[in-house]
Amino acid sequence: MKGVILAGGLGTRLYPLTHVTNKHLLPVFNKPMIFYPIDTLVSAGITDILIVTSGPHVGHFLGVLKNGKELGVKHLEYAYQEKPDGGIADALSLAEDFADGHSIAVILGDNTTDADISTSADSFKSGAMIFLKKVPDPHRFGVAYLDKNNSKKIAKIVEKPKDGLSDLAITGLYMFDNNVFDFTRKCDPGWAGRGELEITQVVDFYLKEGQLAWEELRGFWSDAGTFDSLYKAGSYWAKKHSSSKK
Ligand code: TTP
Repeated sequence: MKGVILAGGLGTRLYPLTHVTNKHLLPVFNKPMIFYPIDTLVSAGITDILIVTSGPHVGHFLGVLKNGKELGVKHLEYAYQEKPDGGIADALSLAEDFADGHSIAVILGDNTTDADISTSADSFKSGAMIFLKKVPDPHRFGVAYLDKNNSKKIAKIVEKPKDGLSDLAITGLYMFDNNVFDFTRKCDPGWAGRGELEITQVVDFYLKEGQLAWEELRGFWSDAGTFDSLYKAGSYWAKKHSSSKK
């Protein structure tokens, strides 16, 4: 399995910080944000990695990551998303050549987690796998509603729902087989009314084909794309760092 980290976007919610550099290079405690998803992949044995990025500061990635060897990456590639706010599925579509027929593990570049995804990566065969996590603020996320008669099955997914009937957020970690690129091509920018190609629609295509599985993400997980979540993620990793030294 190969790994893809989506680090495009404009990071407007972190202005003025993101006037200076790309969101994914801002510090989360003692490391640039993007080190965390890289570490999640490398710890799962995924060392062939593509970073999709965009925006005015793309050159900074090379300066920080170089060829990735210091982080345990064996092969590091970059792709450039021409429309920085084209949407997460637009960024993902750029990974097709890199994937070269293989399955991919995808992580949003502003997500940090200490969950171990190695077993899921090893056992993944086909379709799509999403990782769900109970959250207090589901209206911020794509949310999964489980089938009332079979909780292994997802009944529907909704982008940023207002009804409060499910608190299971779709985290920014995914595994897809190579059909994902047929689905990114079918995405409609009007799907969630935001003019972007949504990864939640990609997941919805798999659901409609009966090819969607889910697991609970065990461990800490947070995005770091707002000032509150950036602070929350930084505090978690700082505490974890100091308790590991005791
Ligand atoms: P978002 O946080 O939804 O978007 P953003 O990073 O542009 O930030 P803001 O809303 O503050 O302007 O994106 C989540 C992740 O997805 C982020 O880590 C970057 C990635 N992404 C892309 O790679 N390409 C895109 O077109 C978008 C919108 C996001």
